[in-house]
Amino acid sequence: MNDLIGFFDSGVGGISVLHTARTLLPRENFFYYGDNGNAPYGNKSLEEIRALCKAGIGQLLQRDVKAIVIACNTATAAYAEILRAEAEIPVIGMEPAIKPAQEARKTGEVLALATQATLSLPKFQRLMSLYGDHVIPLVGEGFVEIVESGKAHTQEAFERVEAVLAPYRDHPIESIVLGCTHYPFLADAIGRCFPHAEIHDGRMGTVQQLRRRLEQQGLLSLAEGGSIEIQTSGGSEVLALMHRLLEDLKEQQSA
Ligand code: DGL
Repeated sequence: MNDLIGFFDSGVGGISVLHTARTLLPRENFFYYGDNGNAPYGNKSLEEIRALCKAGIGQLLQRDVKAIVIACNTATAAYAEILRAEAEIPVIGMEPAIKPAQEARKTGEVLALATQATLSLPKFQRLMSLYGDHVIPLVGEGFVEIVESGKAHTQEAFERVEAVLAPYRDHPIESIVLGCTHYPFLADAIGRCFPHAEIHDGRMGTVQQLRRRLEQQGLLSLAEGGSIEIQTSGGSEVLALMHRLLEDLKEQQSA
């Protein structure tokens, strides 16, 4: 085993989680694999998603990583249990932040945005049965495609987001859960539609869990400096997009 932490997503979405991870764990070395060539996953069948996860996560296992973060809600819901049963290393997944949104909720409603697959799988159904009061699940139709094509901050993105959210304009929406790791890249557009809603996503929870698991198993890196390597099943353009998105997040953080 070497000192790498593997990150997996269907595409660019997990870059939002990777950014949080490098902030919290600056000494770690990260290897990110995005299956952009096959994204989006969220409207595929469970069998297809599982087969793609097996192949994509196989890329991480080949590098003998010390832990795996499934930086994708869809892949977590479809594949995390299978991987945990097989892998001998810590496997950390994503979870739509319905619990924190429910705990912070006062009197209004919570809009829970995620992919079709995430909303239909048992993990989300379990969360809904525990914390689903006044929570409205909603597919972010077309959101992943917009982010994958590098158009997150365009008028086209705003129009897509507005079209999906418009039916809820008259609801007392108090908070919005971004239950897909691509959606934080659309947070500006979502915020423009519901300026008073609080936004919740699972990034920090996942990375804190990663840190806890590494600590417990004595796997935290003590070396100076960390690194990030990104690979994709997509082309060089999407690879450049992933580096750019990561840089943008760094700049936003220091602004
Ligand atoms: N980032 C994935 C998620 O969190 C995106 C899904 C997709 O490829 O449709 O669900």
